[in-house]
Amino acid sequence: MHTITMLGMKGGTGRTTVTMALAMAFVAKGRRVLIVDGTENGTERGHVEVCVTLQRWQSLLVEDGLAEDALEIETFDADDALEDLLSRARRRGIDIVLFDTSNRRTDRLATCLEAADLILVPFLGLLEAEYSLNRIELSADRDISLFGVASALSHPAPTREEMVEALGAPVLQTTLPRAALFREMPNRGRLDRLVANLDKRESGLTATLAMRDAWARTLDLTTEIEWVLKGQVLKPYDPEPELMRARRIVARAEEMAA
Ligand SMILES: Nc1ncnc2c1ncn2[C@@H]1O[C@H](COP(=O)(O)OP(=O)(O)OP(=O)(O)O)[C@@H](O)[C@H]1O
Ligand SMILES: [Mg+2]
Repeated sequence: MHTITMLGMKGGTGRTTVTMALAMAFVAKGRRVLIVDGTENGTERGHVEVCVTLQRWQSLLVEDGLAEDALEIETFDADDALEDLLSRARRRGIDIVLFDTSNRRTDRLATCLEAADLILVPFLGLLEAEYSLNRIELSADRDISLFGVASALSHPAPTREEMVEALGAPVLQTTLPRAALFREMPNRGRLDRLVANLDKRESGLTATLAMRDAWARTLDLTTEIEWVLKGQVLKPYDPEPELMRARRIVARAEEMAA
């Protein structure tokens, strides 16, 4: 079982969206997923809405044919109950636990971070990235892997170097597009079915391609995350070394021919 915690010290940076999208994609790959609502109960503006949305969303998925135990939602309501919650999840055969969190620096957030094998920091732009890790101190006692996830970047998209510099941490290679599929996710059923049953004559070619792209990139993101959980990090493809090698071979061949 792996635990993944969303982190962001700014409101509206996509923590809940990335949580839901990843949950859907992990489930589509046959993993059993538990989402833990680790936002502050009652104290956070909009909390009840988030909680209701997550629960309502899950019932929508079940109505759409998803097995009830494929994706579960729990609310994290007592800070000292986390060990218990995680061991129950392990016993039930949960593969992935996703912690959604709020942007408040609280003990609950600290607990969610402490439990994480991987911390993901979604950001919608460079400004969000700059504030996302603001005043956050992570325990230096253990190796924590922390990566930014770029989502809904505006055009022109910032370069990877700009993103890494703004966040002050590495950023996953897979980025999520700005997509209606994600915006409307709380009111949608299963994204895998929706995308599989798309009819481009009905939805229009552009919308169809955009939805397929958004879903494909979400699946890619889960693959990259599974690599990271195994300790492997995807590097950007750099054609330069191969080009140099090819040039050396050509140069040697020319030398021999001369
Ligand atoms: N990739 C995306 N494409 C389109 N819209 C997006 C995308 N990511 C996030 N959004 C939209 O941005 C808004 C904020 O996202 P979200 O609610 O996930 O952020 P959050 O960090 O959970 O916010 P909060 O601080 O309220 O908990 C939402 O309206 C969401 O639909
Ligand atoms: Mg949220």
